[in-house]
Amino acid sequence: MSEHHFEFLVIGSGAAGLTSALTLSKKGRVLLVSKGAFGDGSSLYAQGGICVSREADEVQSHIEDTLAAGAEHNDRSAVSVMVESSAEAIDWLEHQGVRFDREPDGAYSQGLEAAHSRPRILHATDFTGRSIQVALVSQARRTPGVTIWDEATALDLIVRDGQCFGAYVLRGGIAHRCFADATVLATGGLGQVYRWTTNPAVSSGDGIALGMRAGAEVADLEFIQFHPTALRADSSPAFLISEAVRGAGAYIVNQSGQRFLFDVDPRGELAPRDIVARAIYDELPVSEVYIDCRHLGLTPLLKRFPNIYQGALDRGFNLATDLVPVTPAAHYSCGGLKVDLDGSTSIAGLFACGEVARTGVHGANRLASNSLLEAVVFARSLMKKPLPKTSRPVSTSCPEYCKATPERFAGLKRRLQHLMWEKVGIVRAEHELRAARAQIEDWSSGITGAGWINEDIAELRNMLLVSAAITQAALNRRVSLGSHFLVTSPRVDATYCGHVETQLAGADENVAFV
Ligand code: FAD
Ligand code: SIN
Repeated sequence: MSEHHFEFLVIGSGAAGLTSALTLSKKGRVLLVSKGAFGDGSSLYAQGGICVSREADEVQSHIEDTLAAGAEHNDRSAVSVMVESSAEAIDWLEHQGVRFDREPDGAYSQGLEAAHSRPRILHATDFTGRSIQVALVSQARRTPGVTIWDEATALDLIVRDGQCFGAYVLRGGIAHRCFADATVLATGGLGQVYRWTTNPAVSSGDGIALGMRAGAEVADLEFIQFHPTALRADSSPAFLISEAVRGAGAYIVNQSGQRFLFDVDPRGELAPRDIVARAIYDELPVSEVYIDCRHLGLTPLLKRFPNIYQGALDRGFNLATDLVPVTPAAHYSCGGLKVDLDGSTSIAGLFACGEVARTGVHGANRLASNSLLEAVVFARSLMKKPLPKTSRPVSTSCPEYCKATPERFAGLKRRLQHLMWEKVGIVRAEHELRAARAQIEDWSSGITGAGWINEDIAELRNMLLVSAAITQAALNRRVSLGSHFLVTSPRVDATYCGHVETQLAGADENVAFV
């Protein structure tokens, strides 16, 4: 096993990982490892934009909207820090080369999304995430103090006596022991544990699992945000139709053409995400649900949403002339590794930022376009206190690498995704959560202590652990709050989303894992 020593190890190359690597490179050498292609992750696909509030009244209303969306379950000091730092974060991004859209008079073009009381969302057309990632990736490549390893999977943290010393990283079939004075988990979200998600393949909850195996505290994992308007098609990740499209005036209608969201909330299409997602979920068994942009006109659509227009067209729908079928899909994890305001987890030497971290900013339900902001703000303010001097452990061990994944594990990931969608999804019931927990425990027992590892098994092991943790957190919270919604008896809908594949979930009960 080869050994590497850096001052900082950053795991993940989304907005959080890149921002922290660039910031920390001022203090020491950084190794930046990333599971997929360099710069891949949810950040790259962000559409709507990033919030900013500069004047005192804007700051105040942004704080209030964030708390209201989060069902007041938020950590108020974290919310204030994020909102009060938003202007600085935007200035920093612009300094890195990000360009946000502006009006002809030079003022920022500011978008509106659900649960925002005023337009405050900066964007670069409808692919804000791509603009941010292109700029940050190029800065990281130009920064001599940052060493980049892509296609490199962090398997486990190196932890002794409550202190983190780095991580084991699998790259090119070789496990590397990467030591660092401080390790930053910036591994993003966990949407991949659900059958329908907007999240890319790399979002499998790895950082939460790595942290949990090392004994780090987690919080709020029951609060999974489901985006209401993913394009309803056979593939997952599902293509997102940004909330900004509803912010620009699009309607949600059923097959009778009725704007049924007003029956559940006076804000209609711009009610908070959890409300809209549940209303669509409830409507789907009786009717198709569509986003209707036809009245917005081709030219404005092309100007403001060129990529969404093209993405829908590639999937057979013309936003200017067609109703586009939509479905909710797992989108964002409000919970994660519990951190304080300088990103410290409960393990010395281990930090977290971005979606993997639970700063307390989002409470029980995230306000749209607050997550890129959270990622940048808190990645820039990591490690305010000096790091204590520690001596590295001499002997550490990592499981053997095993190239081929044994046949008995085939299909388990898909079964887990179905289980989570059906039993730990948008609407939850205690007996379903208990059944899911038992099934996940059963599946997990076959994978622990295997003594060998590869990328697929590492991911599966993480997904099982994170799924178990979400399920347990959902069981622990006995009343509905924000995106955690309990009923006594949810409908069982084997044909949900109209995909025959969903039937797999029922057939799974008899499939032995080992
Ligand atoms: P990510 O950008 O997901 O990056 C995670 C990184 O970790 C990746 O590089 C991945 O390869 C790496 N990684 C994961 N596991 C490992 C491992 N084991 N070893 C090594 N590397 C690993 N938020 C907004 O604020 N505004 C928006 O408009 C918006 N739109 C969105 C649209 C979509 C389609 C999606 C999916 C999300 C959107 N969000 C939006 C949410 C937001 O994009 C994410 O919360 C945010 O980008 C997360 O950034 P991150 O850096 O924490 O994670
Ligand atoms: C969207 O553009 O609808 C996503 C925004 C977000 O998730 O914050």
